Amino acid sequence: MSARFTGKVALVTGGGSGIGRATALAFAREGAIVVVAGRGAEPLDRTVRLIEDEGGRASAVTADVSSSEDTARLVSTTVERHGGLHVAFNNAGVLESGPIADMDEAAWDRQLSVNVTGVFLCMRHEIAHMRANGGGVIVNTASNLGAHLRVPFLGAYAASKAAVSALTRAAAKECIGDGVRINAISPGPIETSMSLRPGETEADRAERLKSALPIGRPGTLAEAAAAVLWLASPEAGFTVGHDLVLDGGASA
Ligand SMILES: NC(=O)c1ccc[n+]([C@@H]2O[C@H](COP(=O)([O-])OP(=O)(O)OC[C@H]3O[C@@H](n4cnc5c(N)ncnc54)[C@H](OP(=O)(O)O)[C@@H]3O)[C@@H](O)[C@H]2O)c1
Repeated sequence: MSARFTGKVALVTGGGSGIGRATALAFAREGAIVVVAGRGAEPLDRTVRLIEDEGGRASAVTADVSSSEDTARLVSTTVERHGGLHVAFNNAGVLESGPIADMDEAAWDRQLSVNVTGVFLCMRHEIAHMRANGGGVIVNTASNLGAHLRVPFLGAYAASKAAVSALTRAAAKECIGDGVRINAISPGPIETSMSLRPGETEADRAERLKSALPIGRPGTLAEAAAAVLWLASPEAGFTVGHDLVLDGGASA
């Protein structure tokens, strides 16, 4: 098995569930020391245990990515505990759905503060550390909903993720000269609870996606993690400011 991240410290926000947990496990399997972050301690501890059970190294930091104080502490704690920060996967996100005309301002603010301000704050602290310490790699989680596709009732989410796509590409141009390589993934429906509609079961989702997606199924956690690891790996060394769509053809 290849170990593309041996000797690297990788930070994963939203690492207590879904795409973040799967990617944290994948980084650890390829040699990285992984720090998982999120608001809830218990899911993060579970990810750490899963990694340790496989013989990997990991630790958890509870942090709200929409807080400037928390994101500064997240990066400084990672560096203090593990001696550096080489790879960051800014993946934490929330989804607020509903018609734009009826959306309350608190939901709109929550959508933007976690998905957009959260990525901005994480990148700000990560870039500062990486620039001063020989460079690094950042991957942000956007979505196919946003820069690539729009659907009714997910306008706020799409606006937040379009902002992540644009912020990623601008930051990539700014930072590559300092050795910080930045890209994004833009997934379509992946097999996590976020892609379930209200009241929908996994079987219902499978049935819906048979006709709603050209590929006829949701993306797997392994497929999402593999895309992140490739973007973060030296094999993608010439890939800068790319927004990698993995959506089974939905926005093709
Ligand atoms: N699943 C899909 O179909 C899909 C498609 C396109 C894009 N995405 C994006 O992929 C990312 C991961 O989503 P997922 O599908 O894996 O769903 P998920 O399991 O709900 O993961 C979201 C993670 O973000 C964390 N989080 C939420 N708010 C946070 C905050 N303020 N500070 C820190 N962490 C926070 C959550 O942990 P806590 O609640 O404990 O904080 C959770 O671990 C999200 O950015 C999502 O928008 C998902």
